[in-house]
Amino acid sequence: LFDDALVALERGERRRYLVVGEAGIGKSRFLRAASERAAASPVRTLTVSGSSLERGTPFYAWRRTLLGLLGLGDRPSPDAVARRVEAITGMRMGPGAAAIEGLAPSATEVAVEPSAMTGAVHEVLARVFQRLATDAPILLILEVAGQLDSASWSLVDTVYGLDTPVLVLGAIRTPELDEVPAEAMPVVSDAERIRLDALAPDDVTEMIRDIFDVDDVPPRFIDTVLSRAGGHPLFVEEMAMSMRDQGAATVDQRDHSLRIDWELLERMAVPASLHGIIGSRIGRLGATEQMTLKVAGVLGLSFEPGDAAAIHPSPRSVDDDIRHMTSIGLLTAGSDARSASVAFRHGLVAEVAYSLLTGDQRRRLHAAAAEHLTGRPGAEAVLAHHWTEAERPDRAFPALVTAGERALVGSAAHEAAGYFRTALGMVPAASRLQEGAVRRRLGQALDMLGDDPGMRTELLSAAKLFGYPLPGGRLAFGVGIGRQLVRLGWE
Ligand SMILES: Nc1ncnc2c1ncn2[C@@H]1O[C@H](COP(=O)(O)OP(=O)(O)OP(=O)(O)O)[C@@H](O)[C@H]1O
Ligand SMILES: [Mg+2]
Repeated sequence: LFDDALVALERGERRRYLVVGEAGIGKSRFLRAASERAAASPVRTLTVSGSSLERGTPFYAWRRTLLGLLGLGDRPSPDAVARRVEAITGMRMGPGAAAIEGLAPSATEVAVEPSAMTGAVHEVLARVFQRLATDAPILLILEVAGQLDSASWSLVDTVYGLDTPVLVLGAIRTPELDEVPAEAMPVVSDAERIRLDALAPDDVTEMIRDIFDVDDVPPRFIDTVLSRAGGHPLFVEEMAMSMRDQGAATVDQRDHSLRIDWELLERMAVPASLHGIIGSRIGRLGATEQMTLKVAGVLGLSFEPGDAAAIHPSPRSVDDDIRHMTSIGLLTAGSDARSASVAFRHGLVAEVAYSLLTGDQRRRLHAAAAEHLTGRPGAEAVLAHHWTEAERPDRAFPALVTAGERALVGSAAHEAAGYFRTALGMVPAASRLQEGAVRRRLGQALDMLGDDPGMRTELLSAAKLFGYPLPGGRLAFGVGIGRQLVRLGWE
């Protein structure tokens, strides 16, 4: 199917596909195989990836791709980005450049006028693509599409509309289809769906051969795996690794054959769910290693060992833990070759490790992570997340407001509204002015989303909180006036 799509792309057709299925069913593997095939064709592959931690950071998914396209390194200075963009497009990025350089605009820059600025960022980025990426057909891969921020989704739409054929290929977990922002609808409702399901027994056999790197696998062993894991590929892998961890399946290096300890295998209690089996593998690690893995789970799908060491409850180097957990397939080297980052081998391992934390541990680690990451450029969304999960409304409130303002600047109005709404639940006691400021911002976000009644409600509440007399009474405060107030940067 993908080969056909690739041929169509080279012929000049525009198409969109969405690979859909449950966690661990093989969506990422499908995307990897697709981009490997495209590498042999005269197609330019652009990959963007969503992230649950960064879901509120506008254009987060695009950042690395954009910097690559611009020929800039990972952490360029704001000036370098602005100069390069201006050289290519003849347009100035202004404070909105922050959206791609990973640096936060200052509060005064944000105060200028978010809604005026956001259109501009988008326009400039569209021009960047028009100039740099229309010489060849584009394969646009959307990894973890269920976690893309709304600004990144709208840029997907922009790229799809370029003067060059584009093939969009996204991967999304089935339940996430119902949670995407409006900007995702062009892809989510129009793309052709590729549904992935459990593997056939022959494919499972081949998987097990690959995992152990052997030519033959006893049919009884395959039956045992199939009876418990069915054809779910990640379940099969975790089960095979669990059997290897416990010595029930070993590879004889002399003749590359698989030796099964049937007695041990029969005695092994294999949890009935994928979460269960991952949990049991983690449970067999040493106590400090387990803690390292849980700390990593707080930091996200991929993390820097230095950050994990810094927030670990017992100060220690985590290098040995990481080496061991990598050797048994819980962790893997990060995809960014330029840094020492480490990643969970699969997102579900991170989810399970995180779920094993007690409430108290979780709150402490999130607070420690927030303290540790404070001051990092572009960390607004992450800080808001950590302080919220730390259940520290005093710290979460300002972090959420900052993240919301940052999202407004990046035209991620959907995320901005989310941040402001959460912040409203944490307004410091008796602070009418702070509540008014948040409602006003929420009104701006709703204006960008085209929600006129919502905008009016928020701006009216804000006006009341600020103690303003309302112009001409409540009824006269129509959409027009609301808009004007938004545009005037009504302080
Ligand atoms: N057809 C297959 N043959 C062999 N291995 C497979 C196959 N499909 C998936 N796998 C393996 O199963 C594991 C899970 O697959 P993958 O990471 O692609 O899942 P996913 O659908 O992207 O999950 P998530 O929604 O959590 O991102 C991977 O290690 C992958 O290599
Ligand atoms: Mg995946």
